[in-house]
Amino acid sequence: MENEYLKLKEFWNEYFKNSQTFEVAGKWIEDENFNSAIKKYIREGAKVLDFGCGNGWGLIEIAYTVNLGEGIGMDQSEYAVECSNRTVEASNIGNLKFVVGDETTMDNYRDYFDVVFSINTFDVITNEALENVALGCQKVLQKGGYLLVGLNPDYPMSFLEKAGYEKKNGYLIKNDIIRGNFKTTDEWIEFLSKYFTFVEKVDFALTELDKTYPRRMLVLKK
Ligand SMILES: C[S@@+](CC[C@H](N)C(=O)[O-])C[C@H]1O[C@@H](n2cnc3c(N)ncnc32)[C@H](O)[C@@H]1O
Repeated sequence: MENEYLKLKEFWNEYFKNSQTFEVAGKWIEDENFNSAIKKYIREGAKVLDFGCGNGWGLIEIAYTVNLGEGIGMDQSEYAVECSNRTVEASNIGNLKFVVGDETTMDNYRDYFDVVFSINTFDVITNEALENVALGCQKVLQKGGYLLVGLNPDYPMSFLEKAGYEKKNGYLIKNDIIRGNFKTTDEWIEFLSKYFTFVEKVDFALTELDKTYPRRMLVLKK
């Protein structure tokens, strides 16, 4: 699977290659469940890691919801990190920074964060990587800290097939690249419970389509 993992990482790096710099003026997420969960689990002054941050929207949204002490976005894609740093600069947002890194760089932040947030990342990587990522999150969280894992909606297979995905060995594949790690909500909870204590599942919607097929946030505690 190592080769498959390298391929998907390169796919995501290329994905962010020509990302536009955009200015974010404030909050855009209206979903009450999402906003209440962020306020419930992230206290003022908290140190937060956004793992697999992509273009940084998640951490920026969190920073506009709660007054953070420090926010670090980490992604293995250097293009994603460059794009995120340009965005916070253009938007004049302080106390957030974005760094290139993955599960192998987590040692630099042992017991450092109050919260690790990660959206649409756990469910796009291989099982082998996932284990190391879960261990990495355990390492960087303080005792009693929260892990918030955002998962893509549980779309029916017929819907995914129409969008060009096929299911193979528990993964969603498109153009020969792993684009999804296919697990039910219960399987995700079972997997993450090997490393953390499960607290609750929060459904939320960012788009009209999400109202039919909601996104899921799993809340776990170290
Ligand atoms: C589907 S994108 C999600 C990005 C962002 N969180 C969002 O919701 O838009 C998955 C992201 O995970 C990153 N990623 C994949 N494997 C990673 C790893 N092992 N360490 C850090 N980032 C990783 C990719 O580079 C990509 O930016």
